[in-house]
Amino acid sequence: MLRLKDLAVAPERCEAERLERVEGKIMDVSLMSHDERLFINGLVRLLRPKKVLEVGVADGGGTCVLLNAVDDDAVVHSVDIGSTAGARAFELFGAEARWRRHFGADVSEVIEEIGGGIDFMVLDTVHVHPAETLSFIAVFPFLAPDAVVVLHDVNEWGLSSYEYWQCCATQLLLDSVTADKFTLSEFLNGCRHPNIAAFQVNHDTRKYIADVFRSLFLPWGYDAPWSCTVPERVLRALVLSLLPNPCVELLRRVRRRLRGQ
Ligand SMILES: C[S@@+](CC[C@H](N)C(=O)[O-])C[C@H]1O[C@@H](n2cnc3c(N)ncnc32)[C@H](O)[C@@H]1O
Repeated sequence: MLRLKDLAVAPERCEAERLERVEGKIMDVSLMSHDERLFINGLVRLLRPKKVLEVGVADGGGTCVLLNAVDDDAVVHSVDIGSTAGARAFELFGAEARWRRHFGADVSEVIEEIGGGIDFMVLDTVHVHPAETLSFIAVFPFLAPDAVVVLHDVNEWGLSSYEYWQCCATQLLLDSVTADKFTLSEFLNGCRHPNIAAFQVNHDTRKYIADVFRSLFLPWGYDAPWSCTVPERVLRALVLSLLPNPCVELLRRVRRRLRGQ
């Protein structure tokens, strides 16, 4: 896949007209701004991923952006713990075989069924730490070596009212992961903080994955519900293949935390 850092064009300016095919049909349900939808649309058009994973669907506004942007031979897997997610995507793309739905489940429960080689992912769930980090840990062994991960609501706590101060999970993941990082270009030279960002996995992401685990020792915004467990098999595969021995203790502590001990 293309390296994002080599791109000459800002993602949100790439094939913006393609988004127009769905824009008017999703504006009422989409939980993203027009610029954010353009950012995802442009990234997909530039990178042409073949296996896309969307975690967090709600009414399916983002799903429609993805299904509209991908090539005909790509597959989009959508995961949501809600069993009735994706209503608008059903209306617009329900008949399409390239849309695979995994509703009523946490991503960690279905990731083995989805399988490896995921080259593009949009992660947009509850934003309370460590939700997105646990999802990323579960998915990481299944990502292609140069996969691109989009994080939405990285500035949720900054844009919203005070009660949303806990919504720092996507920013925390963005900061703890080692990767090439990107955002809307209009923000790059300004002081405004964007609400969407992407990172592209590289060989250092595996090397420094322990930093992502370490972020699990920051305060959690909630007790771990069933929906944010990570199957032991997935954790063990990750630890054995990626982490040096001292991290096994880290894993033990994470497991205790997941069990609420
Ligand atoms: C912010 S909304 C997603 C918005 C959507 N990406 C869009 O662009 O319109 C968050 C969604 O994440 C789902 N969710 C929460 N925790 C989840 C989890 N652990 N795994 C999958 N989905 C989750 C919720 O049910 C909700 O539908």
